[in-house]
Amino acid sequence: MKKWYAVIGDPIAHSLSPYMHDAWFQESSIDASYIPVHLEPSELEDGFHALKKIGVSGFNVTLPHKQAIIPFLDGLDDTARTMNAVNTVVMKDGKSYGYNTDGDGFVQSLFALPVDREQPLLVIGAGGAARGIVHALHRAGFTRLTVTNRTFRRAEELAGEVGAEVMTISQAEAELGTFHTIVQTTSVGLSDNESLPLSVEWLKPGTVVADIVYNPLVTPLLKVASDKGCKTINGVGMFVHQGAIAFEKWTGKTPNQEAMIDSITQKLGGNNVNR
Ligand code: ATR
Repeated sequence: MKKWYAVIGDPIAHSLSPYMHDAWFQESSIDASYIPVHLEPSELEDGFHALKKIGVSGFNVTLPHKQAIIPFLDGLDDTARTMNAVNTVVMKDGKSYGYNTDGDGFVQSLFALPVDREQPLLVIGAGGAARGIVHALHRAGFTRLTVTNRTFRRAEELAGEVGAEVMTISQAEAELGTFHTIVQTTSVGLSDNESLPLSVEWLKPGTVVADIVYNPLVTPLLKVASDKGCKTINGVGMFVHQGAIAFEKWTGKTPNQEAMIDSITQKLGGNNVNR
């Protein structure tokens, strides 16, 4: 029987996941489809049971349900447990298993550019997204991690979990030229937001600057970084790679990620700025 997959979230209408996974099912000759399902927080429990009952094979979970879905699942992998957030659910023999592929997706996207794991790397932010990324960078063997955040206590907590250094925003601003790679994980720079997460006066040409935001494709930070001669990475790669890891978990097949990065970039109205 034809399989089907879904993404649940609120809002969900503008999600690019159905486009991405449908294209991958087609290219892999898998008879399956992928649909967006709008669930408000009050509908999550009933919605989850309904999806199971009518035979979903797996689904993605996006905001605001990444944490709230956890109590309903039968199992959780280590990464999802550490992050206390799930973005991918695999159904097997009627049971549901939660994973989180966001952090590993980000790390894969970083390797679009030559990045040295032994060079200093700064993560700006200490929220849910930063958590996944800092843990994934640590697992991937990045040895010189520093975390900075507007609320210093959250930076201290996150850095403490992986033995990273911690800096206040003003320390990080002053030391910005010492980092080989800078990763921006806060919501500063999203669509209607023109501000920067920190002052970039001391940003050095050649630094790799990654922003997990992909709409807009070029955030205010990426714009000034590229004007200063930095190498920039936007969030499209992270989005595509987190989806590809989910796709592999569901189907055992590796989809074409480079072509999808180009295609999503075009859909968002740009040329690929990463390569
Ligand atoms: P997410 O899951 O997207 O990471 P989150 O857990 O709410 O969301 O975390 C948001 C992150 O963006 C935090 O690091 C937050 O800083 P605080 O811990 O100080 O709140 C950061 N952030 C959000 N708005 C910001 C702003 N205007 N200036 C600086 N940092 C901001």
